[in-house]
Amino acid sequence: MPTAIPELAPQVLPDAAAVAERVASLLLKTRLEQPGRPLGLATGRTMEPVYAALRLRLNALSAPEREHVRRGWQSFNLDEYVGLGPDDHTSFAAAMQRQLTQPLGLDPAQVHLPNGLASDPLAEARRYGAQVAAAGGIGLQLLGLGLNGHVGFNEPPCPPEAACRCLVLSDQTRQQNAAGFGGDPQNVPRRAITLGLAEILAADALVLVVTGSAKTAVLRRLLQEQPNAGLPASWLRGHPRLTLLVDAAAWPG
Ligand code: GLP
Repeated sequence: MPTAIPELAPQVLPDAAAVAERVASLLLKTRLEQPGRPLGLATGRTMEPVYAALRLRLNALSAPEREHVRRGWQSFNLDEYVGLGPDDHTSFAAAMQRQLTQPLGLDPAQVHLPNGLASDPLAEARRYGAQVAAAGGIGLQLLGLGLNGHVGFNEPPCPPEAACRCLVLSDQTRQQNAAGFGGDPQNVPRRAITLGLAEILAADALVLVVTGSAKTAVLRRLLQEQPNAGLPASWLRGHPRLTLLVDAAAWPG
């Protein structure tokens, strides 16, 4: 592992399916061992195989075991677009319903996201941050990586103290996520509500998942740069329990 900064200790697996299996296993283990701690969840293409693997693992459990996982489930998603709600298939809320809430038979009230339809998004961000705090913070936090180094929707530049807030998305991020909006970045909402680095870094443990060759350049930056506001994911390096899972396609080699 030539360029890796030692404390990052990335785990490089053959492909995205192997990464998804590892993450699903970690999520399930955490859920069983720490049933009282909320999970921190993410959306995006990286997470689709993760939730698919989790569904398969849950379906393989006995009915009482499955019920044990379901009962008391509480999760908080990182982010949501302003202006989109669960009835819009492009919202993160709808993605969670499709990939997790419905197939697992969870009560939607157990799967929290910021309300993208709130009339006052700034107040909604404050409310959501307070809700996470009232739940005792996040246990295991799952994270994807943006091409510009964002985690959640914490766009650069971003200090590590940034808390849950409403912000304007960068052109690069709207371009990255355009595929879900008919390919046109102009169709991607301009604003989002996201948990901040403050809430993310306060989680008990972090799992950063990086797959696909499109992420190689930003992963190389993450491996090489000291923590800095220009690369929000770089602040994760300061967390004592960070797991970095990478597939061979993303690995800079
Ligand atoms: C998106 C989301 C993140 C996601 C990341 C990577 O914009 N805000 O929560 O983890 O960027 O997305 P993808 O997995 O689609 O590459």
